Amino acid sequence: MTLWGGRFEGAPSEGTWAFTVDDSDRRLLTVDIEGSIAHAGMLGETGVVDKDQADVIVDGLSQILVEAEAGEFAFVETDEDVHTAVERRLHEVVGEVAGKLHTGRSRNDQVALDLRLYLSRAGGERIMQLHQLAGSLAGIAEVHAETVIPSYTHLQQAQPTTLGHHLLVYAWMAIRGADRFADSLSRIRLSPLGAGASAGSSLPLDREMVASSLGLDGVIPNSLDAVASRDFVSEYVFCCAQSMIDLSRLAEEMVMWSSREFGWVKLSDEVSTGSSALPQKRNPDTAELIRGRAATVVGDMGAILALQKGLPLTYNRDLQEDKRIVFHSDDVLGSAIAAMIELVEGVEYTPSMPAPETVSLDLSEALVRRGVPFREAHRRVGELVSGLESRGLTLADATLTDLVNCHEAFEETDLSLLDPATSVRARATIGSGSPESVREQVSEIRRLIG
Ligand code: ARG
Repeated sequence: MTLWGGRFEGAPSEGTWAFTVDDSDRRLLTVDIEGSIAHAGMLGETGVVDKDQADVIVDGLSQILVEAEAGEFAFVETDEDVHTAVERRLHEVVGEVAGKLHTGRSRNDQVALDLRLYLSRAGGERIMQLHQLAGSLAGIAEVHAETVIPSYTHLQQAQPTTLGHHLLVYAWMAIRGADRFADSLSRIRLSPLGAGASAGSSLPLDREMVASSLGLDGVIPNSLDAVASRDFVSEYVFCCAQSMIDLSRLAEEMVMWSSREFGWVKLSDEVSTGSSALPQKRNPDTAELIRGRAATVVGDMGAILALQKGLPLTYNRDLQEDKRIVFHSDDVLGSAIAAMIELVEGVEYTPSMPAPETVSLDLSEALVRRGVPFREAHRRVGELVSGLESRGLTLADATLTDLVNCHEAFEETDLSLLDPATSVRARATIGSGSPESVREQVSEIRRLIG
C-alpha cells in the first residue's frame, strides 16, 4: 500500500519500487507507533478529530504497539515504509477511521520524529555503557594503582607512571564520550511534529502537547528546519565515531601488550581466538575488530556529512539514507563497548618495569629543588646517563659517588629516586599518576558515573 494513490493512474514499476523502498527503517516501528499515539491523542484533545474517533485510533495503535513489542507485527511486501505499514495495520484493526490519523502530519515530520525518539533512547543506552566501561577501568586501575610502568612518548619510554594511571585515560575518554552523547541529546530531544510536509498547518494542532506527551524537551521552532535538518544525526554519528576512535586506541594497546615482545597482558580463553594454521597462537581478535570497525564508523561520519552537502531545503528523499548510516554507527559502538568491557576484564595485567633511565627527570628535579637551573640539571643528568652507558652501566647501577660527581648538590637520599617506584610516589602535581593520584581519580570517576 502507498499513502499517495490519488493523483496517480498507475502504480510505480517494480524497479522503481525496489529502488526506492528501504526496509532499514523497520527498527523505528515502536517509536513510530508511540509518535502516532501522541499525535492522535493531541488530535482528539484539540478537537481536530472527534474525541471518540481519536480514542478508537489510540486504542488501535496501542494494540499494534503490543504486537510490535512482542515481535509479532507482520510487515507485508507492499509496505512502502514503516509509517505506511503502521497505517495499513491500523486500517485492519480499526477500519475507516484510521484515515484520520495522518491529519496535520506528513511522513517528513514523522520520520524526523521517529529518528529523534530512536536516537534519544539509543543515546541513553550508549551513555550507560560508556559509564559501565569507565567503571570497569576504574576498578582495574584501583587494583593497579601501584603497578609501575613506563609512560611512552613517541613509543619510547618516557617517565615512570602506574598502570592504573594509564588505564584511567580510557575511563576519562569514556566519561567524555558519555557527556558528548548527553549534550547531543539536548538537541535531539525536540519534536518536529506539526511541521507537516514543510510549512506547518492551518489546523489548530498543539505541538507542545505532542512534545510533552512524548517526554521530549520542546518543539523545533521552525517547521522547515524541523523536516530539513539532520545535524542532530551528524552529531550522533560523531559521538559514535569519537568513542570508536577512543576504543580503537585502547584496542591497539591491547594488541601490542598481548604480543610476546611486550607481554603486558595475558589473554584468557574467553577473550581470545585461535589460529587455524598455527596451534600455538592466541589472538586478540576482539581488539583487532574494534580497531577495524572504528574505520567503518569514520566512514559513516563522511557519509552523513556528504549526504547533507548542498541539499536544498527542505526534505529530500536523499535523507532516507541517514538511517542506515546512523544505525550502523550506533550498532557498531554498542557492540564494541560491550566487547571492550569483556576484554579489559578478561585479561591478566603483567606489565614490565620501566627502564632505569626513565627516572632521569626525577633526578633533574631533585637538583632543581636545590636551586640548580633546570637546563643545567638536564645537562648534568644527561652526562651522568651517557657516562654510565659508556661504562656498560645504567642509572640503576649509579652510586652516590656517581651522583655527586654529576652534581655536588646530590645527596644520599636521592639514591632512592633511582627506583622508578619511588620516583612515581614522589609525583606531586594533580593528576600525575602517583598511587594517590590514581585513587583520587578513581573516586572522582565513581562519583561521576554515580
Ligand atoms: N522513508 C522516508 C525517509 O526515511 C520517509 C519520508 C518519506 N517522505 C516522502 N515525502 N517520500 O526519509
